Amino acid sequence: MDIRAYNRDAWNRYVDGGKSLWTQPVSPETIARARTGDFSILLTEQKPVPHEWFPPLSGLDTLCLACGGGQQGPVLAATGANVTVFDNSPRQLDQDRLVAEREGLANLKTVEGDMRDLSVFADDSFDFIFHPVSNLFIPDVRPVWRDAFRVLRHGGTLLAGFMNPVFYMFDLEKADNGILEVKYKLPHADSDHPEIVKKLLATGDALEHSHSLTDQLSGQMDAGFHITGLYEDYHGTSAVSEYTPTYIATRAIKH
Ligand SMILES: C[S@@+](CC[C@H](N)C(=O)[O-])C[C@H]1O[C@@H](n2cnc3c(N)ncnc32)[C@H](O)[C@@H]1O
Repeated sequence: MDIRAYNRDAWNRYVDGGKSLWTQPVSPETIARARTGDFSILLTEQKPVPHEWFPPLSGLDTLCLACGGGQQGPVLAATGANVTVFDNSPRQLDQDRLVAEREGLANLKTVEGDMRDLSVFADDSFDFIFHPVSNLFIPDVRPVWRDAFRVLRHGGTLLAGFMNPVFYMFDLEKADNGILEVKYKLPHADSDHPEIVKKLLATGDALEHSHSLTDQLSGQMDAGFHITGLYEDYHGTSAVSEYTPTYIATRAIKH
């Protein structure tokens, strides 16, 4: 199965369906506030990124990695950063261009591609990478950390959000209905389970993968990053959140 192509279509459908939280462009009021330095953006689902995690943003060459949808990219551009939003879904990138055009944000551009292959960018192209929860949509995460390290300048910052893999041990459809049943061994890939693939093909939803904490955390460190901060966050509706945080956010520096 071509997971990248399938998930590109799935995210295009989420935009056209208009219901996914992660495809909703930010409002003119949010951009107006961000222009004054008053902003709040998410790496995970609910907890805003602490302000002390951000480098000074004005004029900062910033890569919003797998981060389309007209949200974090336009907000960071409104604070004065030079933003490139990189994403696999052309419709998600349309949302960023929509906000940029509506708000006159000439310092935002979009590039379509796979987060595991940043070869379109030269070494040392960015000062800051903002990578919200999205690597669940690819089977292998270490290439993301390696290429993020390559395109970041010395002293640059990588902020990343990702799933706690324990989430994927459960039957997630039941967990959405308040029932917790441990069902899958980790690492988990939806595409390995015909019953899940059948359901996703019927609903058109994206295919997901768990990644070990070794690949998420040591993966960053093995790429050369120093992790300097970490927090956890909760899924808003899944029963899994009654027992454990489901998301992790990290701050890492290229020294
Ligand atoms: C949950 S959304 C994250 C963006 C959103 N603005 C947010 O607030 O978190 C996940 C994004 O990952 C993107 N994506 C999925 N697979 C990708 C891939 N292989 N390379 C780049 N982006 C990908 C999707 O198109 C989608 O825009």
